[in-house]
Amino acid sequence: MQDVECVEFLQWALPRLHRRWPGFRKVRRTACKRVSRRIQELKLSGTRTYREFLGRNPGEWSILDSLLPITISSFYRDKAVFDFLGQTVLGEIAANAAAREDTLRAWSIGCASGEEPYTLMLAWRLGAQASFPGLDLRILATDVDATVLDRARAACYSISSLGQLPATWREQAFTRDTDRYCLRAEFRTGIDFCLQDIRLALPPEMFHLILCRNLVFTYFDESTQRQILERLFTRLLSGGALIIGHREVLPPGTTGLAPWPGAERLGIYARG
Ligand SMILES: C[S@@+](CC[C@H](N)C(=O)[O-])C[C@H]1O[C@@H](n2cnc3c(N)ncnc32)[C@H](O)[C@@H]1O
Repeated sequence: MQDVECVEFLQWALPRLHRRWPGFRKVRRTACKRVSRRIQELKLSGTRTYREFLGRNPGEWSILDSLLPITISSFYRDKAVFDFLGQTVLGEIAANAAAREDTLRAWSIGCASGEEPYTLMLAWRLGAQASFPGLDLRILATDVDATVLDRARAACYSISSLGQLPATWREQAFTRDTDRYCLRAEFRTGIDFCLQDIRLALPPEMFHLILCRNLVFTYFDESTQRQILERLFTRLLSGGALIIGHREVLPPGTTGLAPWPGAERLGIYARG
């Protein structure tokens, strides 16, 4: 499919699925390939006939929706964010939690193949935990895509996924299996991977830390962002931290969250 045809189709379809075209602009080739494959499967001639098909078959919209998630991730993605998280945020939220309980709870939303929650676990086990020997970290990691969750549970990665991870962490935490690096079992415990659509469901528990990076505030429209944010508030403890993508912005007029002092440009917020 020509780029111009795909762009025109995405600009028409995305708002109907409460998604934002600007979020897809740079990654559209992935979305276009999937849409093109779907059009071929249906033996249709192009996006014009696919639009007509969508008009006659409302159930096709959820199939189109399932073709859109972008699953790019990597360990220690956005180095400055994880540096600050490990050096400052984890210590502060752990100190608060340790005064009352024995578990620090974090939720990684849109966890992809596990790179984000495993990075958090490494930051804890190889860093902050030493100051809180009585405190365990448990991470709930959710994603809408069952395939990436299978990869997350397998926990083996190519070297390119680990490029930003501190080399000493890589040596301590991974074993090499030909061209793959597999995370040692001891760093996989404490993380539950669950299939969950952030638009439709919420976990029952409350969290000290929520990571919602490079998903809601990139790919969903403002009204969906507001709805999800409101629901995240019901799961984030007072004094806890919300981390969004460092290039993402919260919807205008958001209240109840303040940039974490010293992390104003990193997308790290404290809940008052
Ligand atoms: C671009 S990746 C970001 C991964 C990681 N958070 C990071 O910043 O590196 C977005 C992830 O969100 C997942 N996702 C997309 N829509 C979702 C939804 N409605 N609910 C939960 N996860 C979703 C995708 O499957 C994908 O794995």
